[in-house]
Amino acid sequence: MAELGELKEKLSEIRSKIESDLQGISSSKGVYEYKKSVMDAKEGKIGSLMKEMGKIPKELKADYGKMVNEIKNWAQGRFDEMDEKFKAQERKARYEKETIDVTLPEKKHKQGKLHPNTQVKNQIVDIFGSMGFSIYEGNEIETDYYNFTALNIPQDHPARDMQDTFYLSPEFLLRTQTSAGQIHVMENQKPPIKIISPGKVFRSDDDATHSPMFTQMEGLVVDKGITLCDLQGMLDEFVKKIFDEETRTRLRPSYFPFTEPSVEVDVSCFQCHGKGCKLCKGTGWIEVLGAGVVNKKVLEGCGIDSNVYSGLAFGIGIDRIAMLKYGINNIKLLFESDLRVLDQIDD
Ligand code: DAH
Repeated sequence: MAELGELKEKLSEIRSKIESDLQGISSSKGVYEYKKSVMDAKEGKIGSLMKEMGKIPKELKADYGKMVNEIKNWAQGRFDEMDEKFKAQERKARYEKETIDVTLPEKKHKQGKLHPNTQVKNQIVDIFGSMGFSIYEGNEIETDYYNFTALNIPQDHPARDMQDTFYLSPEFLLRTQTSAGQIHVMENQKPPIKIISPGKVFRSDDDATHSPMFTQMEGLVVDKGITLCDLQGMLDEFVKKIFDEETRTRLRPSYFPFTEPSVEVDVSCFQCHGKGCKLCKGTGWIEVLGAGVVNKKVLEGCGIDSNVYSGLAFGIGIDRIAMLKYGINNIKLLFESDLRVLDQIDD
């Protein structure tokens, strides 16, 4: 039993040593390192006790094992306690350090966004895209032929006065209408044709509702048996999506050289729903686009047999739709890039 007596003494020394060592530790990391050294199977004060087992006489092995286990459990318990205590302290310190003052004014992160015109253009493109239209990118510099003559506006035609043109040379000009793109498409594609063509157009015109550069979107459908009814059905769908579900269309006779018959398309005022307000100037209706059945002369000029095919075309003012949608009364506000203005416009 001498060995057990010695062991008891040794164990109580180990205990006191561990207790006093623990006094000098002040972090969970310290506890972890210390525990590792104490429990190390080769050199640890407790870990190495198991190694001694071989030298213990057989009859004492059970008691020896029990005592070693006891101190092991005790030490483990002390380490856990200390670890918990320090972890709690450390957590508290971290929370205090990381405290967020929710009363501070937020830091504004300015995020870029699409220009209102681009937003509206994208919406229009999405709507017609869902109806099966594809996009044709036209040219901003056109010839007199594509911009006028092929659209049934010959040299001396009074309709040329409707659009003050920036000529680059007697032959070349900045296109005044995206309608010029229709001709390129009809010259190069066989019906059925179903395209939209958004882009910049230019006219020598400058006041609150006109800018020398503005944006339009042309639409063109050519196929067998196309009529004005198809146009109205399509436009009804379009205005419901771009304004709101209650919006209706109304066609009024008009004149464009490249369509026959031609119409002006009005939408029921989406602000007062027809009652009459400032936006619709008391009429309940707002003019939004020009359209019509493609003039046979134009089809034939592009090599399309007008006895077999018919077409419809429409031209939408993208800026006009943006101004209406966002309540902008001066087109310049769209092009001056004043962030104080643009920031306020969003869907
Ligand atoms: N190009 C015309 C304009 O700029 C708009 C237009 C009217 C386009 C009727 C069309 C159309 O395709 O059919 O005023």
